[in-house]
Amino acid sequence: MRHAAYIFDAYGTLFDVHAAVRRHAADIGPDGQLLSEIWRAKQLEYSWVRTLMGAYLDFWQLTEQALDFAFRKVPSVDPAMRSKLLDAYWRLDCYPEVPAVLRNLKDNGARLAILSNGSPAMLEAATRSAGLDLILDEIFSVDSVRRFKTDQSVYDLVASSWRLYPEAISFQSSNRWDIAGAAKFGCRTVWINRADQPDEYRDLPPSLILPSLEGLVTIG
Ligand code: LAC
Repeated sequence: MRHAAYIFDAYGTLFDVHAAVRRHAADIGPDGQLLSEIWRAKQLEYSWVRTLMGAYLDFWQLTEQALDFAFRKVPSVDPAMRSKLLDAYWRLDCYPEVPAVLRNLKDNGARLAILSNGSPAMLEAATRSAGLDLILDEIFSVDSVRRFKTDQSVYDLVASSWRLYPEAISFQSSNRWDIAGAAKFGCRTVWINRADQPDEYRDLPPSLILPSLEGLVTIG
C-alpha cells in the first residue's frame, strides 16, 4: 500500500543520539558508552514523568538535566566535557542511509516530516546540519502541545495539521515505545529495530519491522 505521508521520529531514528559522545570519545575515556546510555535513558524518563505530571519543560532542558545526572553517575568522565557534548547534540550525525531514503520517498511523491520530542530549535539545527532541511516538508515538535510522546495529542498533530486519517500516515521510529504510541493512535507503523531489540508492547504491534530505513524505498 502506498502512503501519502511518511513521518519520522528524530532521535535514534534519523539522528544517532550516541554520536555526541562518540565524537569526543578520546577525551571522555572508557566510560563514554555508559555515560551516553544513562544520558539518553534519563532524558526519556523525564519526558514521560513530566507529561504524566503535567509539568512540561522543553526537550532541551531535559537533555541538559539528563546529562548532569549522567555526569554524577559516571564520575570518571570530566564534567568539563558538558558544553562540548551539549553542543554536539545540535549537529548529531544522521544514520548513513537516511538522506537517500528520504530523497527517494520524496521523488515518489510522498510528503515527509519529523514528529519529535525535540524543541523546534534543536530539530531545525539538527536537520540543517545533516542536510535534511531541504527534503523534509515539515518538522512537528511536541512543543506546540507541551506534552511528550506517547501522549496521543502528539500523534494527532500530524493528522490534524495535514488533515489525514491516521491510517494514511506511515510512522517510522526506532523506539519501540514510540511505535506503540503511534499504533494506538491508528497509524501504520514501521519499527526500525536498529539495535535488534526483543519485541514488547505486544498488544500494539508494528505493521512492519526493518533493521534500518533502507527497506522503505522498495515498499513505497
Ligand atoms: C524523539 C525522541 C523519541 O525524537 O527521541 O521524539
